[in-house]
Amino acid sequence: MCLLLLYLLSTAMASAAHLLPGFYSKTCPQAEFIVRDVMSKSMVREPRSAASVMRLQFHDCFVNGCDASLLLDDTPTMLGEKLSLSNINSLRSYEVIDEIKEALEKVCPEVVSCADIIIMASRDAVALSGGPNWKVKLGRKDSLTASQEDSNNIMPSPRANASALIDLFSKFNLSVEDLVALSGSHSIGKGRCFSIVFRLYNQSGTGRPDPAIEPKYREKLDKLCPLKGDGNVTGDLDATPQMFDNQYFKDLVSGRGFLNSDETLFTYGGTRSLVKKFSKDQSSFFKAFVEGMIKMGDLQSGRRGEIRRNCRVVNSRPAMDVFSES
Ligand code: HEM
Ligand SMILES: *[C@@H]1O[C@H](CO)[C@@H](O)[C@H](O)[C@H]1NC(C)=O
Ligand SMILES: *[C@@H]1O[C@H](CO)[C@@H](O)[C@H](O)[C@H]1NC(C)=O
Ligand SMILES: *[C@@H]1O[C@H](CO)[C@@H](O)[C@H](O)[C@H]1NC(C)=O
Ligand SMILES: *[C@@H]1O[C@H](CO)[C@@H](O)[C@H](O)[C@H]1NC(C)=O
Repeated sequence: MCLLLLYLLSTAMASAAHLLPGFYSKTCPQAEFIVRDVMSKSMVREPRSAASVMRLQFHDCFVNGCDASLLLDDTPTMLGEKLSLSNINSLRSYEVIDEIKEALEKVCPEVVSCADIIIMASRDAVALSGGPNWKVKLGRKDSLTASQEDSNNIMPSPRANASALIDLFSKFNLSVEDLVALSGSHSIGKGRCFSIVFRLYNQSGTGRPDPAIEPKYREKLDKLCPLKGDGNVTGDLDATPQMFDNQYFKDLVSGRGFLNSDETLFTYGGTRSLVKKFSKDQSSFFKAFVEGMIKMGDLQSGRRGEIRRNCRVVNSRPAMDVFSES
């Protein structure tokens, strides 16, 4: 009995799932089609949902691996990640994931994990916005828990500079090129005034705006985000916020990056040449972006997991069952 328990525990420890393209080809052959279909309908309703869904992959994978921990609602005994510093009043489109899950449960119940849905839907959001398309590896399990504290400790602030971001990404074995390419995800979507007022009015406590902002663009941002204005007002992250393209990098070169964490990739010497390269060569950006998304999608905690029936809650079951699941 004791040996059995040890064995089960050790397999649980080593349970970093083996990820494969076409993982559901036998168990749920329609899965990838269904995900893309719901994602595309959602974008017709609200184009921004592409950006909002794609962002979920970053905020899920960096916090204890790609395990859909992000999607768990708070419970009386667990503070989840939805209300963490970077996520509160900011992450959105959880309902698109719910809708995808519902469609999948109708066709193949309890087969496709919420963690894999995030990965597929993010890929589809990019492809449907004019960006690259790629094969995703699948077979992730959903976490049994979530941690607001871990999210607070890990997720970067919009104030972060390039060297801090390089350090953060290196902790996940993501290179400088991965960082710059993945930041190109800000080619779509919006950010809040809350995320940029410091750089408009008091960059690094200087009482002055960030000198890297191009003056005309700053005038525009000042109007959108007046000092002590509504922090929830949003602005475009690049000049073509519904099109996944390399406009983001062109904007950085001309001082029109929205977030400090964006513009710093151009002002910092260690990342500038990559920003320039991607601004001139969209296909090199797409190639590096796909590589980065795949590497980020490989992050796993090694903890035991399950296939959730509802992405917002852990499946409930008798405590004794806990060791009988692989
Ligand atoms: C490099 C470090 C990063 C920082 C500091 C950062 C920070 C931010 C911030 C502050 C916002 C705006 C949030 C708000 O104001 O409510 C944002 C939006 C966004 N981020 Fe990032 N981000 C980073 C990397 C990434 C990565 C790696 C991805 C995905 C691969 C991503 C995808 C997005 C998308 C798509 C949006 C727009 C979401 C929407 O319109 O709803 N970001 N990010
Ligand atoms: C970047 O940010 C880190 C952490 O906030 C800080 O310690 C460092 O001095 C900054 N580096 C530069 C070059 O501004
Ligand atoms: C990074 O790579 C090292 C060496 O291959 C490995 O030991 C470590 O677990 C990796 N870290 C992450 C977060 O994947
Ligand atoms: C700017 O920030 C610094 C440091 O955070 C603070 O001491 C100062 O009061 C701020 N200035 C203004 C004008 O808000
Ligand atoms: C944005 O709106 C939310 C919910 O309506 C509110 O709780 C929050 O304080 C607002 N945030 C800012 C920065 O104004």
